[in-house]
Amino acid sequence: MAKKQHPYAYDNLLSPKSWLVEQKGFDRSMQALRETQFTQGNGYLCCRGILEELPYDANAGTYIGGIYDRTGAQITELVNLPNPIVFRIDTHGEKLDPVAMDIVHHRRTLDMHKAIVYRHTTFRSAYKKHIDLTSRRFVSLANKNLIVMEVEVTPLDEDMTFNFQTMIDAGVSNRGALTEGRKRHFEPHEVEQAKDHVYLCVETFEKKVLIAYASALEVCRGNRCHTVGERAMNLRVKKNETITFRKYIVVKSSRHVRPSELKRTTVGILKSARRKGFTRLLDEHEKAWLKRWQLANVDIEGDPEAARALRFNTYHLIIAGNTDDDDVSIGARTLSGEGYRGHIFWDTELFLLPFFIYNEPQVARNLLMYRVHRLTAARNNAAARGYKGALYPWESADTGEECTPSWAKNFDGKIIRIVTMDEEHHINADIAYAINNYVDATGDIDFMWSGGLEVLLETARFWASRVIYNTKQARYEIDHVMGPDEFHEDVNNNAYTNAMAAFNLEIAVTWAARLRRERPAQWNRIAGRIKLAPKEVLHWRQIAERMYFPYSKKRRLIEPFDGFFRLRDHRICQLNEHFMPVLPSTVEWEEIGKTQFIKQADVVMLLYLQNDRFSQEEKKRDYYFNERHTLHKSSLSPAIHSIVGLEVGDEEKALHYFAHALSSDLQNIHGNTPEGIHAASAGATWQAAIMGFAGMRRRGGILSFTPHLPLHWKGMHFCVVWHGCRLRVSMTHARTEICLEDRSKRGPIAVEVYGELKELTYQSFVQFLAPKRASRKSTKVRTAKKTPKKKAVRKKKTALKKRRTR
Ligand code: BGC
Repeated sequence: MAKKQHPYAYDNLLSPKSWLVEQKGFDRSMQALRETQFTQGNGYLCCRGILEELPYDANAGTYIGGIYDRTGAQITELVNLPNPIVFRIDTHGEKLDPVAMDIVHHRRTLDMHKAIVYRHTTFRSAYKKHIDLTSRRFVSLANKNLIVMEVEVTPLDEDMTFNFQTMIDAGVSNRGALTEGRKRHFEPHEVEQAKDHVYLCVETFEKKVLIAYASALEVCRGNRCHTVGERAMNLRVKKNETITFRKYIVVKSSRHVRPSELKRTTVGILKSARRKGFTRLLDEHEKAWLKRWQLANVDIEGDPEAARALRFNTYHLIIAGNTDDDDVSIGARTLSGEGYRGHIFWDTELFLLPFFIYNEPQVARNLLMYRVHRLTAARNNAAARGYKGALYPWESADTGEECTPSWAKNFDGKIIRIVTMDEEHHINADIAYAINNYVDATGDIDFMWSGGLEVLLETARFWASRVIYNTKQARYEIDHVMGPDEFHEDVNNNAYTNAMAAFNLEIAVTWAARLRRERPAQWNRIAGRIKLAPKEVLHWRQIAERMYFPYSKKRRLIEPFDGFFRLRDHRICQLNEHFMPVLPSTVEWEEIGKTQFIKQADVVMLLYLQNDRFSQEEKKRDYYFNERHTLHKSSLSPAIHSIVGLEVGDEEKALHYFAHALSSDLQNIHGNTPEGIHAASAGATWQAAIMGFAGMRRRGGILSFTPHLPLHWKGMHFCVVWHGCRLRVSMTHARTEICLEDRSKRGPIAVEVYGELKELTYQSFVQFLAPKRASRKSTKVRTAKKTPKKKAVRKKKTALKKRRTR
């Protein structure tokens, strides 16, 4: 069969450009970066975007959420499982491989709309013979255990003999951080070579989890296809004849299947996939993605590059979120690499969760249930440290025990001791904040009764035992902590921690009162079980009310922690190639704690999370002060600075930080994207679009928007799920339209835009006209300015609330 000489074999299949991530040519030094960027997955399983032939330096990565292990005394880490994608082709003793053989051209595309990776490479052998290799593959969103790949080979100059070899490569290992070296976390358990499939089962060393693979290879020449069981074959292929291989791979672990059932289930899924065949499986996969994008796509009209970059971040969020398993969470680098050993941080609750709350609430619930299931471990952690209640670990994996390593590499490459697990207790309040966020936006009270409430109560109880009462000042204080700004260890009264702890206590009191009123019997059962007396809850309120909040009257600024303003104050006088601040050469990294440099959004994070608490003037002062001192040495930081930049009316800063966050992993801005996608940055970037430029907030149980579209954007179009209803939001400079796309379970929904309140019913839409502005300048301060209709809005809100409670 003659192969068409397209410049790119898949041109006709590709989605529009703003949905593509492209790689043209091959640069060996960029291989690991591309592998991370081209990761494919479905929340259950992810595979790094390797080239099938595994060139030198390739880092295959196959990860299943929740499968962690450790060897001996090492630290628990996400296991790099056998690689099923490997497909090797040799001819005349030469391997088709861009490092080993010359390439005439090489192009790869991640089509984010369909979640397919396409590849077209033309090789030139040592004998100057040209060979075309094309491939496409997907990790099915329709069937979470399935990976499907297709490889096509065409000799272009003469008939050639090839050796094709494919397998499930069990020779992979984790890269190992620092001085650990490579580590294998599993051993073979069962191998079977059947007539038409291969079965491989491996077992992890410590946890004894079984991971089963079944795969079948289909070989097609012209219209004739047959399935083979062998893994290696020699075939003679005619000039311009295309030989096609399709590999169906099923991966399943014993986490949710009885070990005795694992083989039967895995092989069964493979059989049914093969019956369906490539085209139907592809079709199901594409349909599942189409549905997913109908909700998740944020279209930035007028700036296709920003839209594309935002899709890239969103794509990586989607493939990280598990819809079916409430016992796994998302690690700081998703399932796209081994950075941070796959551990779970506050990143999940504060940076990732909002995307899922407003997009796929089931995933959000699962992420929070992951914490609920680890409440006992958190209680033990608190007790071991001499506190009451529950203290969640700074880094968490499968068991919920603390698994922060004691050592890490600093920015200057030196090994430093890590104290985050002893001091970053704010994670407790972050989790409580996230629970409140989730329940408020979804109305899922059942989650509270399923353990959410207990987490709120036990984290509050922790703070009550963690604070100390300063009798002289008649206030509660929290000593020996580290805030989000990890440049400063062992500080007292970190403003972020104190304010978030107070919030944790407040919401525990509020939810306790509400749920006790609504279901006294159920409440009594829980209170009885955790031995919670009413006076303990009363005490929490007192602590929250008297929690010290560091503030300098002289400077009229929040003091990030006690004594911060006495530290050395240096100026940032250099920016790097990404226009981000560089540590002055006069300051050593070892001395960073003695300066006023801030690692990442800390007070600024607080301004965002508790934005109602501060006046516009306060926000402005604190934003600019902190922004001037922040080095953004964490990818979590820029997007938050974008959001708060908009809050204070500084569109220029907001756009600068947004652009930075958008391209964090597309351009490897932090230099370590090869170790995996910066999940929190991806989540925060989505928040910068929706909470920032669309100005979405929850205000008194109502969803409100204050659009801040930059001048060069024509509009922004997206969906959010609010209390189980899908709202389609479309905003331009002139107006905002909101449509309720599915039937509301609770009657009309109220939405507020530019301070104006309107009601939505099923399939109806409401329109809000943007207030007239004399010049663009006035847009900058539009955020917090109360509209003249303020009183009327307040009246309407009260009326709506009354109606809902009736
Ligand atoms: C940041 C933390 C973050 C962690 C994982 C660190 O560099 O300072 O806030 O949780 O990375 O992303």
